[in-house]
Amino acid sequence: MLGLRLSQSKHSRIGRATKMPKLTIAIDGPAGSGKSSVARRVAAILDYLYLDSGAMYRALALKALQRGVSPDDEPRLEALARATHIELRPPTQEQEAAGAKNRVFLDSAEVTQEIRSTEVAQAASRLATIAKVRQVLVAEQQRAGAGGSIVMEGRDIGTVVFPQAELKIFLEAAPEVRAERRWKEHQEKGEKMTVAEVFDEVIARDKRDRERKVSPLVRASDAVLVDNTAMDVEETARLIVMLAQEREKELAPTGRPE
Ligand code: CDP
Ligand code: CDP
Repeated sequence: MLGLRLSQSKHSRIGRATKMPKLTIAIDGPAGSGKSSVARRVAAILDYLYLDSGAMYRALALKALQRGVSPDDEPRLEALARATHIELRPPTQEQEAAGAKNRVFLDSAEVTQEIRSTEVAQAASRLATIAKVRQVLVAEQQRAGAGGSIVMEGRDIGTVVFPQAELKIFLEAAPEVRAERRWKEHQEKGEKMTVAEVFDEVIARDKRDRERKVSPLVRASDAVLVDNTAMDVEETARLIVMLAQEREKELAPTGRPE
């Protein structure tokens, strides 16, 4: 069982038309493209919920590592997924200042930091190749996002989890830039990895994510490609908010009947 208590900003809806449709916004893209930072910011501006689907794969991968479950043992991994409780909550101010976009709880124990290691990232991407594990997590993501007004980010949100999402973004950035962004995060946490090591980790994971048979990382045909190689988080978020507001207007009821 997965439990999700999702991040929602404390902003009020003052100034926003109450009749605006509640969009589902899907943001997919490779590692380090800025999905978490941008999705979280978009959700705060629009007063939407935010869900980091990658944190769920990471939390489950951490549990598998802790229990010594082999990444090839599909039946055990599926059973583990079904018996796991994951909660996503908004970060504390201190955690936010340290770069966390979520608090993540695995069977009630906080694992916010532990799931961000490269070992867990690699284990997550191996576990994410298993169709039956994905089914369990996708069902929870669909349940969590059923009410709309949500920004969900991952690899298959626009293609599999919410193919009907009103706005889909495929977030890209040059691989060197993505690796450098990740390397900076490791540096800030005092982890000693070279840029080349981080680059190799990111590229290996992207390759596995793009080439797997089930729900590979691919741009949905109706997703807007946003390359933020030369944009910061705020600029990227503002661009997506603009696109969301256009979609809201397009979908809003046109007012009085003729
Ligand atoms: O979720 P994803 O792996 O796609 O990326 P992220 O964790 O949101 O971003 C990785 C790092 O890149 C974070 O430290 C962001 O602040 C940074 N970033 C950036 O500097 N410029 C951007 N346009 C996007 C992200
Ligand atoms: O933050 P970063 O982009 O590096 O990774 P993440 O979003 O935390 O996802 C970790 C891993 O989980 C990815 O490399 C994918 O293998 C997997 N994942 C997935 O398959 N589908 C999703 N919707 C989200 C993550």
